[in-house]
Amino acid sequence: MARGKHGVFVCIEGIDASGKTTQARLLVKSLRRGGFDVVYTTEPSRGEVGRFIRRYVLQRKKRVPIVVEALLFAVDRDEHVENVIKPALEKGKIVVCDRYVYSSLAYQGAAGLDQTWIGQINRLALTPDLSLLIDVPPEVVLKRMKRKRSVMETLRNQRRVRDIYMGMVKQGRLVRVDGTQTVEQVASNVLTLVLRKIEVRTEVKGCADASESTVSAV
Ligand SMILES: Nc1ncnc2c1ncn2[C@@H]1O[C@H](COP(=O)(O)OP(=O)(O)OP(=O)(O)O)[C@@H](O)[C@H]1O
Ligand SMILES: [Mg+2]
Repeated sequence: MARGKHGVFVCIEGIDASGKTTQARLLVKSLRRGGFDVVYTTEPSRGEVGRFIRRYVLQRKKRVPIVVEALLFAVDRDEHVENVIKPALEKGKIVVCDRYVYSSLAYQGAAGLDQTWIGQINRLALTPDLSLLIDVPPEVVLKRMKRKRSVMETLRNQRRVRDIYMGMVKQGRLVRVDGTQTVEQVASNVLTLVLRKIEVRTEVKGCADASESTVSAV
């Protein structure tokens, strides 16, 4: 994967219902209160292919062939990087992305696809400056999920996905954040890691103060 030159690119990963969106949104609020220019974005993206994925892949009962799934996500990602992420980074913005290439590696990898191949079809995707794994055991997130599918199936799949994510933590590609803590604690840990990465140590206090008020308001 290539690397961008400007701005700061952060992605948030984790198994289903681990708290990614909760944390991404809190992070965006805290950073904005700290005076940063931040773009919040998600995968699948809001582009044509992203919308197609929601309809054709995510909202149907039977899973499409995994190769098709992997290719569609990779195409959407290329478009997302070109149309949303790169332009924002070139303007010096912070991009907070809710799921990214590591989701493809984990989910389609858990479904049996070769990780090297998934990496190859995603090789044009920018490498984030910081990739966080909101880590919660599958048993815990199952309790948080509103709509349950077959419990065994879900649990088994979530375990595989988490194992792949943890492998990427060991490789140093993802930074693990304990997602079993309260929303506020997790948000504080995420903010600390992000501020450290964007090298604004002098502003940590002001932004952390903003974070407290943001978090408590949620
Ligand atoms: N630290 C936490 N402790 C307890 N509950 C939490 C925590 N973080 C999030 N939740 C709750 O868990 C549920 C899932 O959270 P959220 O939607 O942020 O997860 P997600 O990872 O974005 O899920 P998805 O994979 O479906 O996009 C929500 O009901 C949320 O309020
Ligand atoms: Mg979400």
